[in-house]
Amino acid sequence: MSQPEREAVTVSDQTVERTVTPPYTPMAREILREWVQTDSLRKHCEAVAACMGHFAEKQGADEDLWVAVGLLHDMDFERYPDMDAGEAGHPYVGVRYLLEIGWGSEVTRAVLTHADYTGVEPISPMERTLRAVDELSGFVTAVALVRPDKSVHTVQVSSVRKKMKDKAFAAKVSRDDIREGAELLDRPLDDVIQDVIDALRASADRLGLQGILVPV
Ligand SMILES: [Fe+2]
Repeated sequence: MSQPEREAVTVSDQTVERTVTPPYTPMAREILREWVQTDSLRKHCEAVAACMGHFAEKQGADEDLWVAVGLLHDMDFERYPDMDAGEAGHPYVGVRYLLEIGWGSEVTRAVLTHADYTGVEPISPMERTLRAVDELSGFVTAVALVRPDKSVHTVQVSSVRKKMKDKAFAAKVSRDDIREGAELLDRPLDDVIQDVIDALRASADRLGLQGILVPV
């Protein structure tokens, strides 16, 4: 038997052409609909996608592709949540599937880089941005949802900074990861936080962050 395909497709420095054609976002959303039933995980992927689109637009990158990467980065996490399972777990299972259906290595390498335990370092702007917004978008979402109005529209950079200092708040979110993400982008953390807030505001409806009426 020849070398198992499973191993070949997860080699991160292997170049595999993308054969799927744009628009990528609807295809990615369809994959997510099929693989992810949990509302919170779908919303997380949508939040990361919103940030990826915002950051892509700002630098004239391929917004459609970046959004798709945001949508797909955790596509297998509901079915394969065991991060100690090696190539039988997240994100390798999703990466193999994406390669099989033609998404190519630019996308799958990016998906691999968002999980630091894969050992695949984020290099391209798309990869670095994914690493930077993954945890931060979740953190800003959490900050919005504990507010009385449950709205991202009233979240400020200062409120995010304050919550970052509160160790009990969203304790699972690594503050180091958030800081390192901004360093990867070579930008001040406050600017990155502001961009994430702006991105989530623009997609607040889809993300359920539009807010509620608060009695006065
Ligand atoms: Fe994620």
